[in-house]
This record gives sequence, structure tokens and C-alpha cells, in this order.
Amino acid sequence: MSTERYWERTTCRICGSADLLTYMDFGEMPVATAFKKPGEADDERIPLAVNLCRVCGLSQLGVVVEPSYIFSPNYPYSTSVSTTFRDHCSQMAASLKEVFGGQEGLKVLDVGSNDGCLLKEFLKQGYECIGVDPAETVVEKARAEGIESICAFWDSRVAGDVVSRKGKMDVVTATNVFAHLDDVHGFLESVGRAMSNDGVFVMEASYAKNLLDYNEFDIILHEHLSYYLVSPLERLFSLHDMRISNVEEFEKIHGGSLRITAIKSSNKRIPVREQGVGGYLQREREKGLLNPERYLRLERSAAMIRQETRELIDRIKARGETVAGYGAPVKGNTFVNYCGLTEKDLPFIVDDTKDKQGLLYAGTNIPIVSSDALAEEPPQYLLILAWNFADEIMRKTRSFSEAGGKYLIAIPKPRVVERAYL
Ligand code: TMP
Repeated sequence: MSTERYWERTTCRICGSADLLTYMDFGEMPVATAFKKPGEADDERIPLAVNLCRVCGLSQLGVVVEPSYIFSPNYPYSTSVSTTFRDHCSQMAASLKEVFGGQEGLKVLDVGSNDGCLLKEFLKQGYECIGVDPAETVVEKARAEGIESICAFWDSRVAGDVVSRKGKMDVVTATNVFAHLDDVHGFLESVGRAMSNDGVFVMEASYAKNLLDYNEFDIILHEHLSYYLVSPLERLFSLHDMRISNVEEFEKIHGGSLRITAIKSSNKRIPVREQGVGGYLQREREKGLLNPERYLRLERSAAMIRQETRELIDRIKARGETVAGYGAPVKGNTFVNYCGLTEKDLPFIVDDTKDKQGLLYAGTNIPIVSSDALAEEPPQYLLILAWNFADEIMRKTRSFSEAGGKYLIAIPKPRVVERAYL
């Protein structure tokens, strides 16, 4: 089926196979990025289900929503709010310099550069930087920080523009961009065009292993078209005459992220960590990550989490106590809608991102507010929807817990936390 808003994808976006298995089906869900203004009606719900390609192991949505519905004008995603993420960006800039033997004056292009969070760290370490991002508001923020930025969707024309401004790039980065891509092949071809023959391409994406191991079903949303393992990525790069030179894992980023460094096959300058890459491919096979049975368990775990979360919240409410949310990430929207939570369960959700305050979660009437609400209407519990930042959020809300407040964290398993990590 296909409508103006979305179309069905019946073949694998990496290998083209039609041998797809649906393993997590949410039915129809609101588009999680469609934050609403008060009084605005909800958009039409759209089917949300994930398919596993039995040939290459890529997990991918069965539908592709038109990008204009995903990147709505109200979508206020801005990366720089988290210090965890800032530190991660700084580490990346330093470690890439090492890969190039400490060479000065390296040129870096960040595709999906957002507000310049990553490039700011590269700039501090002496790189020459340029970013590309399609969202006007975040591009303006990056420019205000002195980061040269092109406002456009990444394609071969923009790659040509970058090369004519700066020459070929030593480093091309794309962090948390691959999950959003339908045409991964076109994207990589354009990367190849902008990158020097001795350059590196660095991508980061949530690791689908963690989706399964830690029941992170809420990271599934219309915006995230694919959920990656190393195995399908190895196939993807080989189709573009590239190879993976290094794989790293970061547990704290987006619920567990992969950082893949890839080079052109002819590149003899950058060392290839054969054993490390081979180890990932072997472990993915051994741990059943290419086995459909392993995937079918996720839907059962998600249903358990929904039931236990509802029971916990119902018990708290029955005692006359209240639960508010903390962190309004897009994944929290999947969580809230899947669990059927409304403003009667969560009267508000606190988020420190100014642009999100005053909006409502799609499909609900739950308002997103500033942390002032914690003093004005103190709840007894905070459901941490941004569970990947749980430690940071608990540190930040120390006074809430010192006054007796408790935290609920639902992923990988619903639990109450009483200042355990402070
Ligand atoms: P993300 O996981 O998609 O980056 O979203 C995390 C959300 O949590 C984002 O909306 C910002 C919010 N957040 C806070 O409001 N306060 C915090 O201290 C942190 C770490 C995150």
C-alpha cells in the first residue's frame, strides 16, 4: 500500500532481498517526531513494524514515511543538550587525529551536522570543518558558533559543492544519520565523491544487538528506518568498494552505539583492525543475531514491559501519588503511545530543551515543560523516558530525590530506583 504520507518497503534496502520477516508490530502509531502545539489535532497514525532481512541481517521498517512528515516544523531536535554526548564528540575528534598519526590541518565534513555539536570539537582540535544539515534552525545555530554549514539534504550535488569549496575531505562523519536513510546506496556514493582516496568515513548508529539484548523497543519509530548490525554494514560497504577498518562500541550513547570506520578498498594508508572487525562478525553469528528466532522474542518482552509499567503506575496512582516524565526524547513517544499512557498517568514531562517546552507528545495531551514544574507540582516519581541519560538526569535532579522522590526506569525492565547511582 502507499499513500501520500508513506509507502511500503517490500525489499531489503541493503541487499534487495524480498525475504523479510516481521518481528515487532506496533500496529498504527503517531509519528513520534510530530510534537504538537496545544490545540493542534493529531496527524493520521501510520503502521509501524520492523522486518528482519533473512539474507543480510538488516532490521528495517516496513514503511517509509515521507521526510516532510518526519521533519515537521515543530521538530526541535538539537544535540548539544547532553554533556555525555559532548564528551563523546570530543573523544571522536581526538581519536581520528591519532588514526592520521597526529597530522595537522585535516579536513572534516559532518553530514547531518545538526547544531555543530560534533564539529565544534573538531574545530577545537585544529581541523578545518564543514557541515551539511537540512534543518534551517539548527544550521543557523551552527553558523552562529562559527561553523561553516550548508543547509541541504545530502546528495551528490552537495558533495560536489563541498569539494569545490574545500577540496576532498580527509574525514567524513555521519553520526545517527544512517538510521534515517532510505537510499543508503546513494548516500555512500556521494560520501565516496567527497572523500579523498586516503580518507576515512565514520558512521555511528544504534547497535541492533542492544535493541534485542536490552529490550530497547522504544527506539523503533518512523524516523528510524534501519537498525544496524556490523554484518549487513560489511555487505553494504563491500558493494561500494569500501571496507570496514575499525568497529567500536559505546554503551552510553543512544542506548548503545556502533562507531564504524570505513575506507576505500584501495586505501593502504589507514590501518585495518582485521581481528576486531572479524570478531564482531563472528560474535553476531554465534549470538544468534542473524537468527530470526532471536528477534521474535522482542515483541513478547515489550508486551511484558508495557504490562508491568502500567501496573506500577496504576499502583502509584491508587495511593494518591503522581508520576511525571523526565526527558522527552522521540523514543519516549513510542513508549508512551505503545503503553497507552495519557495525561492522566503522566500529567507532564520535563525536558531541558527550551524548544520542546510548551509542546505536547504526539498522540497524547501530555505537555512538555521546564524543570520548574518539579518545584511547582512535585510528583513522587519520575519516569525517565530518556533512560540512556538516566545517570545524568538523576544527578541533575538530586534535590528531587533528596526530598524523597523516586525514579521509574522501564527499559530493559521496569524498576524503581532510589538514588542508587548518586
Ligand atoms: P535523545 O536520547 O534523543 O538525545 O533525547 C534525550 C532527551 O532528554 C532530550 O530531549 C533532552 C532530554 N534531556 C534533558 O531534558 N535533560 C538532561 O539532563 C538530559 C541528559 C537529557
